[in-house]
Amino acid sequence: MACRIIDGKALAQQVRKDVAAEVARLKSEHGRVPGLVVVLVGDDPASGVYVRNKRKASDEVGFSGEVLRLPAETSQAELLQTLDRLNADPSVNGILVQLPLPRQIDDRAVIERIDPLKDVDGFHPENAGLLTIGTPRFVPCTPLGIREILIRSGVETKGARAVVLGRSQIVGKSMALLLLQKGPGGDATVTVCHTATRDTAAIAREADILIAAMGRPEAVRGDWIKPGAVVIDVGIHRRVDGTLCGDVHQPEAVEVASMLSPVPGGVGPMTIAMLLRNTLDAFKITLA
Ligand code: GUN
Repeated sequence: MACRIIDGKALAQQVRKDVAAEVARLKSEHGRVPGLVVVLVGDDPASGVYVRNKRKASDEVGFSGEVLRLPAETSQAELLQTLDRLNADPSVNGILVQLPLPRQIDDRAVIERIDPLKDVDGFHPENAGLLTIGTPRFVPCTPLGIREILIRSGVETKGARAVVLGRSQIVGKSMALLLLQKGPGGDATVTVCHTATRDTAAIAREADILIAAMGRPEAVRGDWIKPGAVVIDVGIHRRVDGTLCGDVHQPEAVEVASMLSPVPGGVGPMTIAMLLRNTLDAFKITLA
């Protein structure tokens, strides 16, 4: 069976086009556009690239906002003060603090300080709680993007056996909760595997939909995949030769899977598109 390689960039482009059209409509109706501020503390090169991509996408759909760059020595108190100011600023609808943060700053204190109505990353405990009880508001962008990929690729999740590899708060756990939700992109029977799981490969082989988010380069081999399964690769790793790979061994996976979301060019572009959509939603909350 030929494996279809999902074009995450093209799917994300459709979402971005829809967001841009909605921004233009809201601008003509209300005279305002959504504002997104991305906060970057320090000079981690990978974070610098991510932040630039997020702001560029945000400019392209017509949002206002900026990248706020703070020095690596910024204290926790200073960062919290900055967040208080952004929380109070009505032109700012979405606030994203790029992780990881320098050692002297406690991630949790920062995440909890962001106004939950501006938490477009979906990391605040209030938003995590809303997803857990089945009334999601802001959902983390990566799992939200994966659901969007599944829906737009015509993958039937209802009644499907989904296996999520990895239990991180941002990806694995939130992904499992989304797949459990009632409605489009949900209604799956979900299993989460993690570092203490016995025989992960055997459980993975039962999956109609396999989500690899354990953060181990090319750990998912061909014999972990049920013939005809849909495989979504969430990992991103740089090999010693500089090329990128995911958590899935792609050459083996394409021999077995019916559909694969590859790395790069799969989940990554859709994650940014979902950040735009969350920011648009945050703006609409202020209009309501
Ligand atoms: N660092 C890596 N991924 C993310 C993300 O989705 N949001 C934030 N804020 N930081 C990150």
